[in-house]
Amino acid sequence: MNFKADKFHLKPIADRHHWLTNGTSLNEEDMIIYQNFGSLGEALADRMIENVIGIMEIPLGLAHHFVVNGREVIVPMATEESSVVAAASHGAKLARSSGGFYATTTEPLMFSQIQLLDCHDPFAVKMRIIENKEEILRLAREQDPLLHQLGGGPRDLEVRVLDNDPLPMVIVHLVVNVLDAMGANTANTMAERIAPLLEKFSGGRAHLRIISNLADKRLGRARCTVKKEDLGGEEVVDRIIAASRFAAVDPYRAATHNKGIMNGISAVVLATGNDTRAVEAGAHAYAAKSGRYTSLSVWEKNVQGDLVGSLEMPLAVGIIGGATAIHPKVKRNLKIMGIDSAKKLSEVIVSVGLAQNFSAIRALATEGIQKGHMKLHAKNIAMMAGAVGEEIDRIAQQLIKEGQIRMDRAKELLEK
Ligand code: MEV
Repeated sequence: MNFKADKFHLKPIADRHHWLTNGTSLNEEDMIIYQNFGSLGEALADRMIENVIGIMEIPLGLAHHFVVNGREVIVPMATEESSVVAAASHGAKLARSSGGFYATTTEPLMFSQIQLLDCHDPFAVKMRIIENKEEILRLAREQDPLLHQLGGGPRDLEVRVLDNDPLPMVIVHLVVNVLDAMGANTANTMAERIAPLLEKFSGGRAHLRIISNLADKRLGRARCTVKKEDLGGEEVVDRIIAASRFAAVDPYRAATHNKGIMNGISAVVLATGNDTRAVEAGAHAYAAKSGRYTSLSVWEKNVQGDLVGSLEMPLAVGIIGGATAIHPKVKRNLKIMGIDSAKKLSEVIVSVGLAQNFSAIRALATEGIQKGHMKLHAKNIAMMAGAVGEEIDRIAQQLIKEGQIRMDRAKELLEK
């Protein structure tokens, strides 16, 4: 590319489009695709991130049949992956006859880390910081009086010495109750505010001041039971338990097992304008907390021989601030779910993760995953080959019948 992107960020979006037609293989017609800004609108999109040229659409679907803590919930899910919404709904349906999902959360406690370097006597520094905890927490509290008034704010200070030669460091965790926010901004601002005071008490130098995404003080937990009759008998229960044990003991399997959980979690996190990367980082770090990466969920059998699943993981999600506050669809998606607190949102999300996981391992432990996937995959291939309207289903069915879900065959069928 031989053209400059000077002051790209200052240019209006129309100029950025024009710039693209000059310097890439795109033409004016291609630009039409970028001109629809959906419910977000051009002005809002342009304010949300930098150098905006358009929006990236992902389908938004509704998962049905969820009952969480006795309440019916319709769950909006944003995902590009076929089968995810159907699988979540199916999992929720099978859990219904035992009351659905029972979910809880811890308090919404996030923590930021302040890294102190050049402390001559790190263990004594730890003591000095703890001795002065109240003063440090008071200063942090002053940073957000409204949060304090509403019942949130700084709660605790934890100090760890990481005695790693040649750079020992003292790490301070500032624990904050962030109420209904995701909380990263709140905790980060407070960490920056108290850093000079920590330097004073430690005689050291404050280096990084940033939230930890291993938000293990803000956990979501859910459990559900699926009756053996609804699964086709106790043998299927045993098969699912064997699949769960595989993930418990093998990190290679655990990564895929947890990916299945995150298929559901990330879709709701995205639909509610929350930070998918933060939740994903937290989930995987939590799965490795023991020092060996393992599964986030467990499947076992109760005394009646029914299948019982449980899932526990960090869930840093909010319903105020950030994209949750400004995205027009996010506000409505929360209304669809009847969500009025971060706690309730977290309880729904962790339940969806468990339902998603159940459906995936049930399929894997019985007929295999491809059967269900292939139907949707065949439709996608048909569409990619150029099928429209009724052609899509007809060609997809034929591809499945022939057992050849391939683009070249779809094109041949379309030509016929
Ligand atoms: C695919 O997106 C997710 C699964 O691989 C999850 C799993 O293996 O448990 C089916």
